[in-house]
Amino acid sequence: MAANHRVALVTGAARGLGELVARRLHAAGYRVALGDLDVEAAQGVARSLDGSGESAMALRLDVRNKADFEAADRLLDEHWGGADVLVNNAGQSRVAALMDISPEEFDAVVQVNLRSVFLACQVFGKAFAARGQGRIVNIASLAGQTGGTATGAHYAAAKGGVLTLTKVFARELAAQGVTVNAISPGPLDLPIVHESVPAEKLAAVIQTIPVRTLGDAGFIADAVVLLAAHEAGSVTGACWDINGGLFMR
Ligand SMILES: NC(=O)c1ccc[n+]([C@@H]2O[C@H](COP(=O)([O-])OP(=O)(O)OC[C@H]3O[C@@H](n4cnc5c(N)ncnc54)[C@H](O)[C@@H]3O)[C@@H](O)[C@H]2O)c1
Repeated sequence: MAANHRVALVTGAARGLGELVARRLHAAGYRVALGDLDVEAAQGVARSLDGSGESAMALRLDVRNKADFEAADRLLDEHWGGADVLVNNAGQSRVAALMDISPEEFDAVVQVNLRSVFLACQVFGKAFAARGQGRIVNIASLAGQTGGTATGAHYAAAKGGVLTLTKVFARELAAQGVTVNAISPGPLDLPIVHESVPAEKLAAVIQTIPVRTLGDAGFIADAVVLLAAHEAGSVTGACWDINGGLFMR
């Protein structure tokens, strides 16, 4: 099936990795919906992809709300005949001392990073299964595999949960033509990393990475495009590690 007949929803697509994923999917011929809390920034990206709105649109989507995913599903149905691909990219890393994390902070980080993936996979998993095809790609994190060093316990635990949900939904939906996979990046060369880690500390972090460089976010986006392809039907429940050798199975 040609990619230009396909429709993808990317969450957290206003900037960072999500923006790159949306750009690469669009370049591969997808019609792309960019969901984000920051709808103005998402609109800017959508306009830069296609000013006519024919093949790119932005929508306000808060991944903490199931109703927002249901509304996105309906909108894509009306607009483009339904989605084929969902990329659960939105997330928020939070640095915090383990023993100081309050119950409220824990819940807030789990809501954005884990509960969001559960809600999205329920809503779109059901819609994809009804259509007999679909691709879901979840952006996890190395922190979810190792427990994390530079991020908080809530974030690491949530990302570990994303890997588990990936397997659970993959098993549930496999017989209906729907695949569910995760990509687990290590530290990436992205604005948020440079904004949140002081330059000297970042240089020291890079020295701990076996390949001695931050990950290329464009390559992660290319991996998403590969997993989103109609031809990728035999990959499901997988986690693709892209971490510079920081974690080897
Ligand atoms: N940056 C890294 O090194 C790295 C490493 C491993 C995993 N990841 C994961 O990659 C994904 C993207 O990270 P990034 O570095 O591009 O982050 P970022 O902070 O630069 O961008 C995140 C985007 O998500 C949006 N967002 C935040 N909360 C939202 C919500 N409730 N609803 C909808 N949108 C929301 C933000 O507005 C923003 O546009 C995240 O899941 C992150 O955990 C990043």
